[in-house]
Amino acid sequence: MSVSADVGLFISMLVKIMNAKKTIELGVFTGYSLLSTALALPDDGKIMAIDIDREAYETGLPSIQKAKVEHKIQFIQSDANHVLEELSAKGEEGTFDFAFVDADKPNYINYHERLLKLIKVGGIIAYDNTLWGGSVVETDEDKVVSFLKDWRNAIMEFNNFLAKDSRIELSLLSIGDGLTLQTSQVAWETKNMHPIGLLLRFICFCNVYVCFCIVRLLYFEIPVQ
Ligand SMILES: C[S@@+](CC[C@H](N)C(=O)[O-])C[C@H]1O[C@@H](n2cnc3c(N)ncnc32)[C@H](O)[C@@H]1O
Repeated sequence: MSVSADVGLFISMLVKIMNAKKTIELGVFTGYSLLSTALALPDDGKIMAIDIDREAYETGLPSIQKAKVEHKIQFIQSDANHVLEELSAKGEEGTFDFAFVDADKPNYINYHERLLKLIKVGGIIAYDNTLWGGSVVETDEDKVVSFLKDWRNAIMEFNNFLAKDSRIELSLLSIGDGLTLQTSQVAWETKNMHPIGLLLRFICFCNVYVCFCIVRLLYFEIPVQ
């Protein structure tokens, strides 16, 4: 099922505000969220769009072609975890500005770990359906409608996991079926780190070393070699 219109418009505006150029989407279906992102990207922007189902993507392709944004899209028919692993192995860590996740919910935690490495410092990862029809706040399991029961626990575990994850900042927006945004100000991989980030890490290291030398000199009277 496609994302709701308010989520589509919201991610479109977010991509524009961020000046995102390189994005990734997990769970394309017929491409409504993909089209929302593609329309928001600059002409030389790129989206890597991953789905196990090519037929659904091809059903929506005429709309993407009509909107003249097909050149921004690289569709990959594959399991999303597999592609994310490959991207890390190919040295693509820290290179994506924005990710949108709307694939199989039990894998959200795995996608979270992998995408954290692939997203730039200050980039945003957005997860759809994190309110799961409102069922995540229902205390009486028997009151949950049957079609929501299957993946409800996966979404609840995911929400709890993110709430405790000190590496990120997050916000769960009550639009559509719930949209969780997360960002991180820390690079979890240094391979593709921005030079300013590397410089800041070096300055921190120097500060710690200078403090260590002062303590040695003042308290233990050991001169710096
Ligand atoms: C809710 S739909 C995506 C809707 C889409 N975002 C939109 O706005 O139209 C979920 C999609 O995730 C895909 N999917 C499910 N498991 C997947 C996996 N392990 N890897 C990649 N795609 C997957 C399904 O084939 C389906 O097309």
